[in-house]
Amino acid sequence: TGEALDGLVDTDKGFISRELFVDEDLYRRELESVFTRAWLFVGHESQIPNPGDFFTSRMGEESVILCRDKRGEIHVFLNSCRHRGMKVCRYESGNTSLFTCPYHSWTYTTDGKLQGVPQYRSLYDGVLDREANSLAQVGKIANYKGTIWATWDPEAPDFLTYLGDAKVHLDQALDCRDGREGGSEVIGIHKWVFPANWKFAAENFLGDTYHNPSHRSVDLIGIGPSAEAGKKGRRDDELEKAQHIWVSFPEGHGVHSAVQPTANEYVESFLDNPVLEEYFRHCYEERKRRLGDQARLLPFVGSIFPNTSYHGRQPRGLCAWHPHSPTSTEAWRFFLVDKDAPDEVKDYLRRYYMRYSGPAGMTEQDDMENWLYATRASVGTVARRYPFNYQQSLGKATDSYDYPGSVTLQPTEQMARGYYRTWMKYMRGESWDALLGEGER
Ligand code: FES
Repeated sequence: TGEALDGLVDTDKGFISRELFVDEDLYRRELESVFTRAWLFVGHESQIPNPGDFFTSRMGEESVILCRDKRGEIHVFLNSCRHRGMKVCRYESGNTSLFTCPYHSWTYTTDGKLQGVPQYRSLYDGVLDREANSLAQVGKIANYKGTIWATWDPEAPDFLTYLGDAKVHLDQALDCRDGREGGSEVIGIHKWVFPANWKFAAENFLGDTYHNPSHRSVDLIGIGPSAEAGKKGRRDDELEKAQHIWVSFPEGHGVHSAVQPTANEYVESFLDNPVLEEYFRHCYEERKRRLGDQARLLPFVGSIFPNTSYHGRQPRGLCAWHPHSPTSTEAWRFFLVDKDAPDEVKDYLRRYYMRYSGPAGMTEQDDMENWLYATRASVGTVARRYPFNYQQSLGKATDSYDYPGSVTLQPTEQMARGYYRTWMKYMRGESWDALLGEGER
């Protein structure tokens, strides 16, 4: 009921109840109210380049199949047989002409249609409507610069409306390093489970730069958040000269980014490897030429409501935070590279991504440790009486900066406040007009 939500989120005063991160009833309700309505990231078209290619993904807790059908069209359907619910596909990815259910062998085509039913004539003729027993398809699907997004709600606004002005920031992760639109591919995925609520991760990526001390050790050795692709120096210089901005958007998205006064000159970064040096120099110059003034905007991190985050710089890619329970989340990190980059560049980036990210990477462990202990220390009866504090830079946002959205020019929890304000609207089942409503002023 609505009353159960009262008092949980107070973004005017800056308090959020710990129940959002531990409570079972709220969790079940958000699966229904948030995950069956919002646009969710399910994969990348480069994972399914050919007809019949599929990748099993997730939407909320549920398994879905991202599949390119025989005609080349992309679909997302629920990975559950319409007969007794068996998972029709138990592989992570592959190529097939049919999905055959292992239980009683109903078969589905690559566009999700029920095709084969054993003993159809003798047992089902005249009764079973095959069309009506196709795999459940999502309400809407969008291919944005190669990334595939889906929502179960056929009434949802189109994806670009949902994305709003956060688009310019997400583009920094999806476009080629030389400024061309799209043209990226997934080079690998890390998957792992961590014992904390999925919103801890989404919130962190909204632009919680305040947590940088957590990564002090990796910063010191030169691969932490302030180092570019393992090289300290160039990025430090860019960051020091740039104006940092923390931005929230009315749709619940948020980003931390930085704008240079003028686009910098390229600084030699890979003198020990001419292939890398040439590629990154070329991309840097090309990007400046193509984007002009827009090249001053440095790619950074952000989250798209509710559970997709991205890194615009290295390690470039998207993260999906899939809920398992109130205190358990499956993290998927999709790493991106320019499709037409030389193999040596891709290989270099693959190694860098593995070293930096994921369960065995250097930075991710720091974050997991924080979320894990914060969760354990928040499930107790007494702990739950004390809400989390989100008062940082309260009232400091402006909407008259050069870039759209509500912008704060110092570290702030404004993006998190906006995120939970939006979260509450979903939980209350508000209309799409209200969901895409106002940010913090
Ligand atoms: Fe799939 Fe019976 S559960 S055919």
